[in-house]
Amino acid sequence: MTTHNRHWILAQRPIGNGYAEAFALREEPVPVAGEGQIVIANKVLSMDSGTRMYMTDREDSYQPGTPLGDKLIGTVLGVVTETRHPGYAVGDRVRCYGQWADYSLVDPATAYCTRLDDAHADLKDFVGIYGANGWTAYVGVVETGAAKAGETFVVSAAAGCTGIMAGQIAKALGCRVIGIAGGAAKCALLTSDYGFDAAIDYKAGDVAGELARLCPDGIDLYFDNVGGEILDAALGQMALYGRVAICGLLTNYTAPGPVPGPYRFDQVLMKRLRIEGFFSPDFYAREATFNPQLARWAAAGQLKLPFEVSHGLEATPEAFTKLFTGANIGKVVVEL
Ligand SMILES: NC(=O)c1ccc[n+]([C@@H]2O[C@H](COP(=O)([O-])OP(=O)(O)OC[C@H]3O[C@@H](n4cnc5c(N)ncnc54)[C@H](OP(=O)(O)O)[C@@H]3O)[C@@H](O)[C@H]2O)c1
Repeated sequence: MTTHNRHWILAQRPIGNGYAEAFALREEPVPVAGEGQIVIANKVLSMDSGTRMYMTDREDSYQPGTPLGDKLIGTVLGVVTETRHPGYAVGDRVRCYGQWADYSLVDPATAYCTRLDDAHADLKDFVGIYGANGWTAYVGVVETGAAKAGETFVVSAAAGCTGIMAGQIAKALGCRVIGIAGGAAKCALLTSDYGFDAAIDYKAGDVAGELARLCPDGIDLYFDNVGGEILDAALGQMALYGRVAICGLLTNYTAPGPVPGPYRFDQVLMKRLRIEGFFSPDFYAREATFNPQLARWAAAGQLKLPFEVSHGLEATPEAFTKLFTGANIGKVVVEL
């Protein structure tokens, strides 16, 4: 066992995607568990775009910003190496809200810790279909969005982790599914390998025109991961009594403050729309109800998730950047 713990700190607030300058790698002795705590040897770091908001000093986000100099945080998968908590033993595989480091020191009571069963030999699956992104896709489509067979479903960031699962879940429920993603290659993959009925390359322009062409009777459910101009294009094409499930606002995360919009808010009244946001920690406790259904779809070949894997702790800034430059298909992780 190594005696050193390399860890990433937030050295400065990132400007745009300047993570190489904003993050700094530091070293300290391996942490020692205090009363009620565990130490985890991290094996997988989950890269989640929402983490970008914790790197700002905004106070109106869903979690306070990380103070400068503090360790960067996020969901980790690993193995317990020391425990002073009665619910955890050395050698347990766990998922926790930990640190971007070789080792995480956590208090399971406050770190959303779960002891992982043997259902999946590949640890990554616990931040894939059977992790927050899978549950988020499930809740957004099935509960917040109330998708029904025969409806037209549209999802943005459709080739990313959450979007690619949301689209497949809507398809499994009998919807007609249209994805919006960056680039012809991603769009082709969505229709050839992931069951999407059509895909729109937003980088080629005219998203509104393509939505009008592909959804002549309107969009019944729009699962939004990006906000901004794509949200406006979708609002302009909603069906009467349509629903908009707000999962994420990727276009806003690098902005220094609140951004104006949406420009087509008028459509909420004109089309009698329902818009609702949802946030995964609110439903972490319901994991046991989501996973069996997600597993049924996966076993039937209706739900697949590709991984974009970076190797080594030092690759973390580069891996995180992929979420904002579109360099990933599916779930981005760093394997240690
Ligand atoms: N509500 C919740 O509890 C919850 C939980 C998990 C995730 N989320 C949200 O789900 C969304 C997806 O997150 P993720 O972590 O799964 O990442 P991801 O979808 O795997 O990766 C992000 C993808 O979004 C696209 N993208 C990035 N910036 C964009 C922009 N400005 N405009 C349009 N597309 C953009 C990129 O693909 P392209 O090549 O297509 O541009 C990129 O590959 C985020 O908004 C995140 O906050 C919400």
